[in-house]
Amino acid sequence: MFRALSGIVIGVLLCPVLLYVWFTRGNPPVAVADPPLPFERQITHIPLHARIDREMPKTVPVQATAETFIAGAHIYREQCAFCHGVYGSPSTVGAHMFPHVPQLWQSHREGVVGVSDDPAGETYWKVANGIRLTGMPAYDKILTETQMWQVSVLLANADKPLPPEALTLLKTPLSYDVPAPVAMPAMPPKPTR
Ligand code: HEC
Repeated sequence: MFRALSGIVIGVLLCPVLLYVWFTRGNPPVAVADPPLPFERQITHIPLHARIDREMPKTVPVQATAETFIAGAHIYREQCAFCHGVYGSPSTVGAHMFPHVPQLWQSHREGVVGVSDDPAGETYWKVANGIRLTGMPAYDKILTETQMWQVSVLLANADKPLPPEALTLLKTPLSYDVPAPVAMPAMPPKPTR
């Protein structure tokens, strides 16, 4: 009896010690290029989707009109394109973050573009609350509710024909994509007196 109990106590004490040794000596994944932990995707996605299913709004208060798409495209360029890319050109940083940033204007399986297969309410939840430990920000203190709906409705319709004004906004590369005009001089000019 005593041996069994002491075995349990030693086992319980050993767990945090081994964990500490692994944390400090074992090179657990911390850099973007490191491989994921076993079951990392499942551990993060199952509770995320359970929460979204419970909390996402079921009715959409914004109509899918040309005005909504154009307003959404302005918001998208200002707030989202740096990570999620513009139409026809992926973001520079997207593939160098962990997890990789989904490119929301890229077509994939059976005509789906970005998250056009997700209900607007699901995208709204992600935009409003963000996704912890991924780099996806929470916009509920940055954008108004209407603005969050406008960008969410735009993304839900990414596979549909969009008004030309919205498409032009979504296709124009971000200003920092423009190549630097002239190289800096190697040496600063000497002060003249
Ligand atoms: C700093 C980078 C960054 C910015 C800016 C950003 N996101 Fe994200 N976003 C991410 C990352 C990283 C993920 C992936 C999260 C994951 O894998 O769970 C993500 C995920 C998403 C998803 C879920 C995609 C999917 O495949 O399920 C949506 C929708 C989304 N973002 C919309 C937006 C919108 C709309 C904006 C702007 C209002 C925005 N994001 C701004 C980094 C960003």
